[in-house]
Amino acid sequence: MMSTTPYLEYRDITAGYNGTEVVSQVSFAVCKGQRWGVLGRNGAGKSTTLAAAVGLSQLQAGEILLNGRDIGSTPIFQRSRSGLGFVPQGRDIFPSLSVEENILVAAKNGNASEALDMAYTMFPRLKERRNNGGTQLSGGEQQMLSIARAIVTKPQVLLLDEPLEGLAPKVRQELMASITDMIDELGLACVLVEQYVDVILDFSQHVLVLESGRPVYTGPTEDLRRDHQDIIENAIGLRKL
Ligand SMILES: Nc1ncnc2c1ncn2[C@@H]1O[C@H](COP(=O)(O)OP(=O)(O)OP(=O)(O)O)[C@@H](O)[C@H]1O
Ligand SMILES: [Mg+2]
Repeated sequence: MMSTTPYLEYRDITAGYNGTEVVSQVSFAVCKGQRWGVLGRNGAGKSTTLAAAVGLSQLQAGEILLNGRDIGSTPIFQRSRSGLGFVPQGRDIFPSLSVEENILVAAKNGNASEALDMAYTMFPRLKERRNNGGTQLSGGEQQMLSIARAIVTKPQVLLLDEPLEGLAPKVRQELMASITDMIDELGLACVLVEQYVDVILDFSQHVLVLESGRPVYTGPTEDLRRDHQDIIENAIGLRKL
């Protein structure tokens, strides 16, 4: 039987900061077109887990592979060139630059008009605001810009860390709809971290649930929903979208 190499694979990793361990025993593999969700309470280690792939937390044991290659010692900038897109928690934009400039900085040496086209097709709102400065955007628009900046690097796998954080309920729903459309349209593989359980259960085919830095569930969303209501309720402070 032919097996396909996952785009991104965590193999029994331990990660943390300055020698202190935050998460361990995490293993999962994101294949082409797959959508993974990561759930867990504040401080459970969700961001640290994503950051380990990007190189922003310390990988202390285990391996992370991008397209089958161990990226443990790959410099951060090369990881993004190799197809890893990352939207960090909080809004990763330059407040003093316009929307357009923010997108172009992210696209770097790529085709500028292609990058702007791509960003504005995904988020028409950004086109309307293209000359606005970063600080003149609403929270939802800032988040769109942050996502657009990751998208124009043409990732194979997109890591999204709590894109809905701090947004009003209606804005959360709109942004989540845009994110889902975008991921479908681009056929991206994706890892979404959110504290909104319903969002993760609707969006993801596979889920990793973390509790105090340890996985308490790694597998299909369907099975989690059907057989493990206890995990959903215990591990997660239930938040509704
Ligand atoms: N840069 C850092 N240096 C040292 N410790 C950190 C750092 N970032 C996070 N930690 C610690 O690691 C633990 C897990 O944090 P992490 O940010 O991964 O949790 P999280 O699940 O993303 O939480 P939240 O839902 O609040 O974003 C926390 O105890 C936190 O204090
Ligand atoms: Mg976090």
